[in-house]
Amino acid sequence: MVVIYIYMSDLNKHFEPKNLSDKVALLFTKFLRLLADTFFKKRYGHRAVVLETIAAVPGMVAGMLVHLKSLRKIEDDRGWIKILLDEAENERMHLMTFIHIAKPTAIERFIIMIAQFIFIITYGIIYLASQRTAHRIVGYFEEEAVISYTEYLNELESGAIPDQPAPEIAINYWNLPLHATLKDVVRVIRDDEAGHRDVNHSFADIINLRKRKELINSKRNKDQKQDGEKILDQ
Ligand SMILES: [Fe+2]
Ligand SMILES: [Fe+2]
Repeated sequence: MVVIYIYMSDLNKHFEPKNLSDKVALLFTKFLRLLADTFFKKRYGHRAVVLETIAAVPGMVAGMLVHLKSLRKIEDDRGWIKILLDEAENERMHLMTFIHIAKPTAIERFIIMIAQFIFIITYGIIYLASQRTAHRIVGYFEEEAVISYTEYLNELESGAIPDQPAPEIAINYWNLPLHATLKDVVRVIRDDEAGHRDVNHSFADIINLRKRKELINSKRNKDQKQDGEKILDQ
């Protein structure tokens, strides 16, 4: 029982915004959530297909930008590139799985094309302007993904949406038992989303800490310079 409680509390984790960057990230996420809720309502399979096409973008964009920065500045990436590219690959596998559950309609295919175009540019610009906000946005996106997959799971468990055998691609990718069903697939995908949420929130925290250290150091240097000038004046 205790184990279940810890597990559930871990799933429902929410990062309270602490500064302007966090608040912008949360607001941006809530706005997109509203759009998704209005468009998809309870069509969870379609929602998953369309949103996973977008979810697989940030890891690739961020991975590429960190890679280029590492080349430009000739500095170590601290393992970030691999983590980000793995995230993109994992999100793409979510898409490859859900395409066996729901086929996008013509209008959804059109939305996927437009959304990818807009999102690559928007996320790239946000990442270049504020890497911290960009990771916080993904952290909040993933919080919403966990909520959506929990809702999907509830519908499957209540029978409102009929369960079905897990697609073979999912059984192979997550090493699921051969008799696994869609419920099991949604559970493992939700765990993946919770993992991405934690990684991206902690990336934003690391950048936050780095920025604070830089601020303290520059203030200390300024104070030391002013003290030195005072001594010279005396
Ligand atoms: Fe996903
Ligand atoms: Fe995700």
